[in-house]
Amino acid sequence: MTAFGYEFRRKYFPLIKQDVVPINHGSFGVTPSSVLEHQRTLIETEEKYSDEFFFLKAPDEYIKQLKALGSYLGINYQNLALVSNATTAVNAVLRSIPWDSAKDKILFHSTSYTACCNTVRFLDDYFRVQYNVVELQYPLEDDDVIAQFEKKLASGEYKLCLFDMISSMPGVMLPYERLILLCQKYNVWTLLDGAHAAGQVDLSFLDRLKPDFMTSNLHKWFYVPKSCAMLYVNPKHHDLIQTFPVSWSYGTKRLPSPSTPSDIEYNQHVLVNKFSFVGTVTYAQMLCIEEAIKFRSEVCGGEKNIRKYQYELQTKAVEEVKKIFGSGAEVLQNSTNSLTPPGLFNISLPIEEKYLALLALLQEDSSYFTKFKNKCFKKMITENKAFAPFIIHNEKIWVRFSANVYNEVEDYTKGAASVKAVVKQVLEELVIFL
Ligand SMILES: Cc1ncc(COP(=O)(O)O)c(C=O)c1O
Repeated sequence: MTAFGYEFRRKYFPLIKQDVVPINHGSFGVTPSSVLEHQRTLIETEEKYSDEFFFLKAPDEYIKQLKALGSYLGINYQNLALVSNATTAVNAVLRSIPWDSAKDKILFHSTSYTACCNTVRFLDDYFRVQYNVVELQYPLEDDDVIAQFEKKLASGEYKLCLFDMISSMPGVMLPYERLILLCQKYNVWTLLDGAHAAGQVDLSFLDRLKPDFMTSNLHKWFYVPKSCAMLYVNPKHHDLIQTFPVSWSYGTKRLPSPSTPSDIEYNQHVLVNKFSFVGTVTYAQMLCIEEAIKFRSEVCGGEKNIRKYQYELQTKAVEEVKKIFGSGAEVLQNSTNSLTPPGLFNISLPIEEKYLALLALLQEDSSYFTKFKNKCFKKMITENKAFAPFIIHNEKIWVRFSANVYNEVEDYTKGAASVKAVVKQVLEELVIFL
């Protein structure tokens, strides 16, 4: 087996440009060449005889991919659907619920992904569905996160709680299993945003704890080409959930009293059939799930092996980044080490005294921060080709790094130097105007 690191990168990810330092897998994912090759063959098959592909092959292939995914992740495939991305899945769920604006409220947290919060805001603006936000200021112990949520949930006002399994910025894990149980205690529906989950954490808890809904991108950490995400739907909601956009399957419902084996099978496949064709898009990437699983198990040696490498690399990379960022740099962690998933870690970038007033301004004014951030991002991407995203959170700049099977410690030496130099340069340009 080829060792993870640069040799692995050369062999299995040769498309990553040689002069690029890929330390941001988390945003969009990178796909192994063998899986991309498979996608290309499928795109050609779609084109060669599209009637045969879409009418005859795609429906069976869709189920085949679901079965492979379910069996690999330990989830009943009948509770899974494939959609383009996590944002679409969150929209499909939130826009399928017949909200009663007189009483239904949604809860999410301050570190939720903006596109998903905006879907809730849309429901408020257009349909007067109210919402509330749990403030999370990291670092936090899991018990603190649970306590913050419970303070709100205990009021009994909420119909649904949307929470991340692994947040985007900062890139931290939430105690999602405990949050499911907490919501169930207060009879609140759960919508888990696991955009970063598949390929980083075990998902077999889904059939055990039975949250209401969960989504995970497969194009981020699972090595399926863009755009592909899974949507888990608790069997009790298979009638309620609609595709996004609402399409052919609208009106499909389970039979009220199934008696024959085929009626029972029909009911079990309501979700599968609903999502198997929504509108014409290429299915090539979705039909690469089996190929991605093959790569993960045969070439990478399975989930445990991947995670082991990521955690080992992360441990070394944290020290390297801290050394480069200088005195005062910290890793975002709590006393039980539960904040970091295998592939993401956050390090604070210490800021000189003379920039502190500017930092406070940037934290207060989100549009000012966006301008600052965009300027830094552009420089890192174009000039240094070493990009890691950052935010200002709890009065510190937190830089998020990704660790994957094609990385080595040297990537973080270059990456940390790039972020540090660019942030300092742009702060210096701005401080002149203060
Ligand atoms: C927590 C979280 N939710 C949702 C998304 C949205 O993913 P996508 O753009 O693939 O829909 C992301 C993307 O990074 C994310 O980090």
